[in-house]
Amino acid sequence: MHLMRHRALPAIVAEITPREVYEGRREWMRRLAAGALGAGLAAWAARDARAQARVAALSAVRSAVAGAVTVEKPTSRNDATTYNNFYEFGTDKSDPSRHAHTLKTRPWTVAVEGEVKKPRLFDIDALLKLAPMEERIYRLRCVEGWSMVIPWIGWSLAELIRSVEPTANAKFVEFVTLADPAQMPGLRSSVLDWPYTEALRIDEAMHPLALLAFGMYGELLPPQNGAPVRLVVPWKYGFKSAKAIVKIRFVDRQPQTAWVKAAAQEYGFYSNVNPGVDHPRWSQATERRIGEEGGIFAKKRTTLMFNGYEAQVGQLYAGMDLAKHF
Ligand code: MTE
Repeated sequence: MHLMRHRALPAIVAEITPREVYEGRREWMRRLAAGALGAGLAAWAARDARAQARVAALSAVRSAVAGAVTVEKPTSRNDATTYNNFYEFGTDKSDPSRHAHTLKTRPWTVAVEGEVKKPRLFDIDALLKLAPMEERIYRLRCVEGWSMVIPWIGWSLAELIRSVEPTANAKFVEFVTLADPAQMPGLRSSVLDWPYTEALRIDEAMHPLALLAFGMYGELLPPQNGAPVRLVVPWKYGFKSAKAIVKIRFVDRQPQTAWVKAAAQEYGFYSNVNPGVDHPRWSQATERRIGEEGGIFAKKRTTLMFNGYEAQVGQLYAGMDLAKHF
């Protein structure tokens, strides 16, 4: 499986194996030794169930924003909540669903600051009520060459931006995410400079398709998908969609982002989905839809410019050389 990880790879996996897993293994051995195989299996099943535990329902209306509801078949909830990238919990796709259930998502605040007339510290429950919840069914295309279709719940980031009244100096919006070593075993690795940060140009952030998401599949976000609040920018590679946001900062200069800091020659600031500009290690011409018949041997799909959202967002990049500004 292609992973985005870079530095100190071999050490990471050993380092980040959390205590719970070791303890689980010990327990497994103990039960095996005691001949209680059935009970051992039950213990493993219980942990699996906890990773899959349902969260509270979140109601929403179908979005009326142009392009916000694809008719493509959504990925199964099981795939979307067990095949994840959330490096704060480890670099394997199964790490977030196994380890993020301990993430404390209440109380939670999001500080909105910088070049705005009305800076504000939002409590997550106030943020949930800032605008009516909409369901949006977006394609998600990861730079690693796989894709999903996910029914998100949230509202346009533009709603929050308007509420804090950016100044004329606000040219970019930066998203800072939680980095709590007590809760996030992945922070012990040096894959990225923590906290994970991302950013958008202000006009991109104001585009109605840029979503602040609080839920998916009719429920609040599960921790592994970025609870309690994450960004979803459907025309960009998935890594722009920062999870577990704690700060939104309006700035006058293009911020450094986590992946650009890690490997600027591989990950650009814009990171618009572009089948014509390959990543040094991955062709971006095609993609594998997770859950599709045939697994890794399934026929690949053709990747679409701006992930199929060109009609909506293409004008944001008029006149730009997208091979240079990748
Ligand atoms: N946000 C944080 N804080 N940490 C991460 O490691 N991974 C990104 C993005 N947001 C990541 C993150 C990547 S690479 C992808 S593809 C998407 O989250 C995956 O979102 P999903 O797991 O909900 O599909």
